[in-house]
Amino acid sequence: MATPHNGAQKGDFAKTVLMPGDPLRAKFIAETFLDDVKLVTSVRNVYGYTGTYKDVPVSVMASGMGMPSIGIYSYELYTQYDVENIIRIGSAGSYVPDLHVYDVVLANSAYSGSSFARVQNGTTDDVMYPSVKINDTILKTAKILDIPVKVERIHSSDVFYEEATNGSFERYVTDHGAKAVEMESFALFHNANVLGKGAACLLTISDSFVLDEDTTAEERQNSFTTMMKLALEAAIQ
Ligand code: ADE
Repeated sequence: MATPHNGAQKGDFAKTVLMPGDPLRAKFIAETFLDDVKLVTSVRNVYGYTGTYKDVPVSVMASGMGMPSIGIYSYELYTQYDVENIIRIGSAGSYVPDLHVYDVVLANSAYSGSSFARVQNGTTDDVMYPSVKINDTILKTAKILDIPVKVERIHSSDVFYEEATNGSFERYVTDHGAKAVEMESFALFHNANVLGKGAACLLTISDSFVLDEDTTAEERQNSFTTMMKLALEAAIQ
């Protein structure tokens, strides 16, 4: 029973799905960390895999970029494939000097000016919340693994190249309390809340609006790997 966007059959996904934006990241995670891996969907090259991590079934599937994209894939995973939890693992731009490139951030809420929730079911809230239970599990796991995690409100933006405000982002910090920007979590959290499911979002800071910090390919890979391990360990709790 595939959907127009997902070629998997019912039963092909594990209860918990890790969701990077990039299909090649999904492939990397599956091939590097999972055993007995099966590619369960590749519609539009948005790869989804199921395997085991330390003998526990786990899936990993890309979300694509932006709220319309993660909105489709997460809704179908929850409603058509009996998925219970989705942990987004992505990247974000930092709005504040105390969030450095490579820091790992756990979203405690997502502010957005997006119409996603209003159009989806009439909700007018502009802040969406992840699952407290999954966030607690991630934080406990991070403590055990000695991985520093900063818990922050994030901004889910619909527009990467924002021109109307001449690049000014400060109001997202001062008016809405957001410390970093990405483009998906508000829709993911909304879908989870509407459907009574679990969602969380871990991010590594990939760029900063306020600091001029150098990055290397090796450091980028290491910081992403740290976040992936944390998500995988939390997923099997
Ligand atoms: N993801 C990573 N960096 C970002 C940025 N600067 N804006 C939106 N999403 C991002």
